[in-house]
Amino acid sequence: MTEGLEGVVAAATRLSHVDGEAGRLTLAGYAVEDLAPHASFEEVAYLFLHSRLPEPTERARFAQELAGRRALPRVAIEVLSEAAAANAPPIDALRMAVSLLSLGREENPLDDAITAIASFPTIVGTYWRFRNGEPPVPVRSDLSHAAHYLHQLSGAEPSCERARALETYLNTVCDHGLNASTFAARVIVSTRSDVISAITGAVGALKGPLHGGAPGPALQMVFEIGSPERAESVIRAKLDRGERLMGFGHRIYRVRDPRADVLAQAAAQFYLSGGDRRLYDLARSVEATALRLLRERKADRRLETNVEFYTALLLYGLGVPVDLFTPTFCCRARPRLVCPLPGATA
Ligand code: ACO
Repeated sequence: MTEGLEGVVAAATRLSHVDGEAGRLTLAGYAVEDLAPHASFEEVAYLFLHSRLPEPTERARFAQELAGRRALPRVAIEVLSEAAAANAPPIDALRMAVSLLSLGREENPLDDAITAIASFPTIVGTYWRFRNGEPPVPVRSDLSHAAHYLHQLSGAEPSCERARALETYLNTVCDHGLNASTFAARVIVSTRSDVISAITGAVGALKGPLHGGAPGPALQMVFEIGSPERAESVIRAKLDRGERLMGFGHRIYRVRDPRADVLAQAAAQFYLSGGDRRLYDLARSVEATALRLLRERKADRRLETNVEFYTALLLYGLGVPVDLFTPTFCCRARPRLVCPLPGATA
């Protein structure tokens, strides 16, 4: 007997291939570790939408097209303002605003996807600023997608290093087979509904703590431990109480999640060149202790660091508030809805 859809092939895809035994993730034909840290967000989005990397002129045109769609409809800004006044969770505000992106536009899958990709950073940034009693930052078309997101949040133009670190994160998590929100979205488009409806449904699925919720608690654990000497006692006590260590273990990967490696490297680069070195060292020490104790306690399981542990460290270092970790994940490309073509099984 299987639980949920375990072992059931529900769809086929050529977009990404997850090899859980070998710990390999292939994104549109490229190993995640080759693609994510080096390509721009715009290149990866283009790759997924068009099945090949863009030529330089195509890249520039696509970047311009994305940048030209950053402004939100007036009604979406009003809804975000109301949502902030009602203290709605950021992911709810995102779901409400994204559903309005179809207003006054003809349905077109590719066009809708590009508009959604371009708009998400503006939605999240606008909401967050309203929520903090600050006016939204006017959109800028001269910044990259990643830089624009950080600018929308803080109003300050980020350094190249910060933008690069966020870009690496967004590229790393751009696609990962048929997870719950992707599945929800594909069910919606399979009824010949539209892409904006599908993305709205996917954001709803992602709200659930069992899907999008691990990075916050993973960071919380690092803060709770506070200093490397306390790692052993705090983690032992958690395991004694039967708690799960957030940021460890994965349903598919039975070895280290390859995305954790890419993000660990991005975090190292970022923290060691001017970030909070103490927090980085603490996180490394928490990780090492957690892995040692998990091996000791669960010798029959292969529990390794997953993507969420370093997601938390990296996003926190970039100044992304914990409440925005899941909405930030939504700011990646979402190609699966416009090109669900046959290929490897998800
Ligand atoms: N900490 C402590 N024990 C764990 C952990 C963990 N992180 N993960 C699994 N275990 C233990 C379970 O308690 C269970 O022990 P038992 O057999 O003695 O009861 C055993 O390992 C098997 O647990 P399952 O839930 O069957 O393992 P599965 O591989 O299906 O679980 C999951 C995967 C849900 C991700 C799990 O490892 C977990 O809960 N991790 C913590 C939450 C987390 O980090 N989630 C993000 C995952 S990455 C992503 O979704 C993008």
